[in-house]
Amino acid sequence: MAANKQNPAEGPSQAEWGVIADAILPGGGLGTNMVPKDQRFVIRRGQGARVEDLEGNWHIDYVLGAGALILGHAHPATMKALEEQLAKGIHFFGALNEACLHLARELTDAIPCAERLAFTTTGSEATFYALRMARAFTGRPNVLKFEGAYHGNHDYSQVSVSPGAATNFPAGRPDSAGVPDVLPPTVLIAPYNDLETTRKIVEENREDLACVIVEPVQRVIFSEPGFLSGLRKICDDNAVVLIFDEVVTGFRLAYGGGQEYFGVTPDIAAYGKIAGGGAPLGAVAGKAEIIDFADPARRGNADYAQINGTMHGNPLASAAGLATLKELRKPGFYDDLDAKADDLRKACQRVLDRHRLEALVCGQGSFWQILFLDKPPRDYADVRASNRTASKALDLGCLSEGLYVLPGIRRFVSAVHSSDDFEETVRALDVACRKLN
Ligand SMILES: Cc1ncc(COP(=O)(O)O)c(C=O)c1O
Repeated sequence: MAANKQNPAEGPSQAEWGVIADAILPGGGLGTNMVPKDQRFVIRRGQGARVEDLEGNWHIDYVLGAGALILGHAHPATMKALEEQLAKGIHFFGALNEACLHLARELTDAIPCAERLAFTTTGSEATFYALRMARAFTGRPNVLKFEGAYHGNHDYSQVSVSPGAATNFPAGRPDSAGVPDVLPPTVLIAPYNDLETTRKIVEENREDLACVIVEPVQRVIFSEPGFLSGLRKICDDNAVVLIFDEVVTGFRLAYGGGQEYFGVTPDIAAYGKIAGGGAPLGAVAGKAEIIDFADPARRGNADYAQINGTMHGNPLASAAGLATLKELRKPGFYDDLDAKADDLRKACQRVLDRHRLEALVCGQGSFWQILFLDKPPRDYADVRASNRTASKALDLGCLSEGLYVLPGIRRFVSAVHSSDDFEETVRALDVACRKLN
């Protein structure tokens, strides 16, 4: 990983871009989850499972566009589809476009709950609209989410995402300034994987409760057997809409996402990331009787759930999504991906054990993250109780050894990570562990 300093003729160097970024961008980055400034690099390009920075260093990428790039960077099939669409136009509005119709048909075929589908531009918008549709459908104002769940950047999601102290269920706390005081009381919080507490909260609040929104896998916490089916029953018993946030799990756990993997069908579900092949695209899919509240024919009625966006159904993102989904349908895709990720988890666990660290490589499928605890977490309280200082230090050590991971954030494996990538990863982790001890 030799460092080639950027040729001044090519523009600012990596360090100079850092200074410029600090002057222009809040905190010098693109959002909450960023590479710390003292290890900051600027990506020039991505290829396969790696990204190259402006100094010519290649980093093995486990961030993968926050999980959007299941086929890694610049996959030939996705690139070809993008080039073909580029020649036809990158954006239309109002009229239907051919690319988004192809994708809409494929998504509704693939997603178990999907009778209808509405496009959005991001996963955040998808969860936001899903909540809006559930409120329009039920005529009730409140929603229930789980402690530690991230459903995007909107105000409804910014409640009890990473609370520093124990939650007094169902009262949530905002994670962001600027969330109006009236909003958090409309977002009830329950502990993940705890059906008994969730049932009690739903039953006590059913008069005002529109929906329960849940991730089939919350960060690296897999829902326990019976949890999602139990939620299905609780929602049915109380006439509350069940929403799956499949922004991450959709097309990652299985072609049919968490719904296929866990065998539970929600009323509606939110998508993003892989559905757009790594380009900006999201969708809300589900029962016609709910999604149809977004039918513009209702405009002017009190129950119209408005949905509109300049980029909705963007043809470039649709083409990328469609090409990606075609690759995912190839026989054995998910078995191969998960087996590969399993090998990586086991190899990393051996390194941790050799260094006698009380840490676990958590996750299943193609999810993984190293947490300092003695058993896999079953809810956010377990993660909060883990040694997060140690895991952050280890993550930073891995970052400086050429692994692109974000401190404290779940990571992924792509279909294009190779055994060479894994060998290098194990070596990098070994060095990072040594530095920790
Ligand atoms: C589970 C989940 N839901 C929703 C979102 C929001 O998606 P986006 O960042 O595309 O708005 C994310 C983003 O990471 C997510 O992890």
